[in-house]
Amino acid sequence: NEIYFNGLRGVVPAFPVAFEQLRERAQAAMPPSIWSYVAGGAGDERTQDANVAAFEQWGLVPRMFVGAKERDLSTELFGMKLPAPVFLSPIGVIGLCSQDGHGDLATAKAAAKTGVPMVASTLMVDPLEDVAAEFGDTPGFFQLYTPTDRDLAASLVQRAEQAGYKGIVVTLDTWITGWRPRDLATGNFPQLRGHCLANYFSDPVFRAGLAKSPEEDPQMAVLKWIGVFGNPLTWDDLPWLRSLTDLPLIVKGIQHPDDARRAVDLGVNGIYCSNHGGRQANGGLPALDVLPEVVAASQGVPVLFDSGVRSGADIIKALALGASAVGIGRPYAYGLALGGVDGIVHVLRSMLAEADLIMAVDGYPTLKDLTAEAPRAVRV
Ligand code: FNR
Repeated sequence: NEIYFNGLRGVVPAFPVAFEQLRERAQAAMPPSIWSYVAGGAGDERTQDANVAAFEQWGLVPRMFVGAKERDLSTELFGMKLPAPVFLSPIGVIGLCSQDGHGDLATAKAAAKTGVPMVASTLMVDPLEDVAAEFGDTPGFFQLYTPTDRDLAASLVQRAEQAGYKGIVVTLDTWITGWRPRDLATGNFPQLRGHCLANYFSDPVFRAGLAKSPEEDPQMAVLKWIGVFGNPLTWDDLPWLRSLTDLPLIVKGIQHPDDARRAVDLGVNGIYCSNHGGRQANGGLPALDVLPEVVAASQGVPVLFDSGVRSGADIIKALALGASAVGIGRPYAYGLALGGVDGIVHVLRSMLAEADLIMAVDGYPTLKDLTAEAPRAVRV
């Protein structure tokens, strides 16, 4: 409301409202290698671009005489009340997107201010406990990159539980880093890695392991001994992952309906449909295109979605296609780069304000109205 009515009064907002301008300003504000890492993707980035273009393939059909004067975007997810079906996707290097290098804390603060949950990545600049301490009353989720060492995995999950996280998101699609030409060209992996390992260095199991081999370069130990990006899980591992926690367990990177069905059968509480923003494998389908099939196969279990969401209209389309909650990725990283906590809050408020106005103008007053039975997204 504030951004909208200020605009009507002629007050220019502190940060760009349109995504393209946000992106341009963020690029100018970020060191080139960090920019490449955040904005770049796999291969020639066609899948990344297709994620965004996929939203153009759908149009919302408005309804008249609805009287949608009051809208309600609030929802319940895993028994938690949320002001809107939106969350902040995990971004490993997010710490480096902020001026002070502590973007994880800034993201957590923005979550506290807006009520929009943060999914905190394993690869954060600050330890997961420090990040959780900034959540306020907003629930947070911990995203796990599953280490080869099972004790370390259990330790990370246990720490997340103790720190008050309300769910565990296990990312399945990044057990090895994809083919990312921009990162190979800038040679920036060592720099990035050096800043995103706080959760390991603060972990008692990791430290005990490191103490046993003092000659090891600590950073290489993370890669070799723990095998962050070297641990392809199989279906046989899912019962073990399930046994690690009583918190809601969500699996991220699901794009095939059979995978969704099988994961649900094995007791996960949430399916997270995503192609990692096109950063992992080029040549794939846009994540939005597989969303309806994944939803149909998930047997009523909530489906979280991200990859390519750039506006409030995109949020509404993903919801209409069956998502229970929609993840914002790169846009909030750009907001962070431009304006810290305020920048993220601005991005979230703008996207939610647009989503709310679309529900008003299109005559869908509640999320329940955005169903397959209601006139909904149609292919153009
Ligand atoms: C990511 N993503 C990601 N996912 C995850 O599970 N753990 C992680 O640590 C990261 N790290 C990460 C870093 C950067 C720089 C980006 C841009 C993304 C993927 C993220 O959660 C989400 O799936 C995508 O960002 C969605 O795509 P868009 O909408 O950002 O294009």
